[in-house]
Amino acid sequence: MTSAKIEVLITGPLLPSFMAAVEQEFTVHKLWLAPDRGAYLREHGAAIRGIATSAIVGADAALMQALPRLEIIANFGVGYDAVDLAAARQRGVIVTNTPGVLTDCVADTALALLLAVTRRICEADRFLRAGKWLQGRFPLATKVGGKNCCIAGLGNVGQAIASRAQAFGMKIGYYDPFPKPDLGYRRYDNLEALAKDADFLMLALPGGKETHRVIDAGILAALGRKGILVNVSRGSVLDQAALVKALAAGEIAGAGLDVFEDEPRVPAELLQMENVVLTPHLASGTHETREAMGQLTFANLQAHFRGQPVLTRVV
Ligand code: 8YV
Repeated sequence: MTSAKIEVLITGPLLPSFMAAVEQEFTVHKLWLAPDRGAYLREHGAAIRGIATSAIVGADAALMQALPRLEIIANFGVGYDAVDLAAARQRGVIVTNTPGVLTDCVADTALALLLAVTRRICEADRFLRAGKWLQGRFPLATKVGGKNCCIAGLGNVGQAIASRAQAFGMKIGYYDPFPKPDLGYRRYDNLEALAKDADFLMLALPGGKETHRVIDAGILAALGRKGILVNVSRGSVLDQAALVKALAAGEIAGAGLDVFEDEPRVPAELLQMENVVLTPHLASGTHETREAMGQLTFANLQAHFRGQPVLTRVV
């Protein structure tokens, strides 16, 4: 006798290989295809025992409420700020994420953005394509070696940024509520002191209420006219309006941004700025890393429904 497959809800399209694996093992509900989300959840919610969701979409309390038999939320991503953890805890729902597997690619992206801004790579590319090289030389840029690379948040990603920046000859400073003396980097007591000493301020903070807009006008003023900001964490950690203002007024020198406050919308002012490099939240977006994230997300779901402990539990 074959038993009915366990029913799992997916909130938005995820990696095809992940979708295929989930569809093979479970009955899958694709929420984003439902013309009326509420009606769909009323019809199928009682049977759904798992959610797979991206780090951006997450899962809120209302969604959990609509799924009375929910046991697990498998988050495709390391950041879980879009999952209501308090609601999950209250309902005894397990939450998993994908730490470790995306660290290298996210740190690579931070360095790519930093080098693109300091060495004016995108600007130079536009200059060459516009035929301007035929009229004259491209202006000089900024060297990264010897500069202070200051990292806000020295978790896995922050540490991977530090080791890369060190390889480029930068000096490393950091702010993290949990000191990491073994790493031998200079620790600052607060974000303002960190920004004051920074040539490059690299944001690798987790998103969520505690870090909401901690990088504000004051921190940007401390970073100063020669300072460059790079953000590969969450748009929410930064006061985006204050950043636009600081860039427009020349209060900081430039920025490399992979994340924004209201993705996929990006302020029009930023699109006009030559000293800003913008990427569409792609830091983990390589074939290799997304594959590894998919495998880990699937392994968490599979382990749970086979009665085994999940691999990477948050709650
Ligand atoms: C997203 C991310 O998961 O891991 C995170 O926290 O923000 C990204 O890797 C990505 O957009 C895939 O949904």
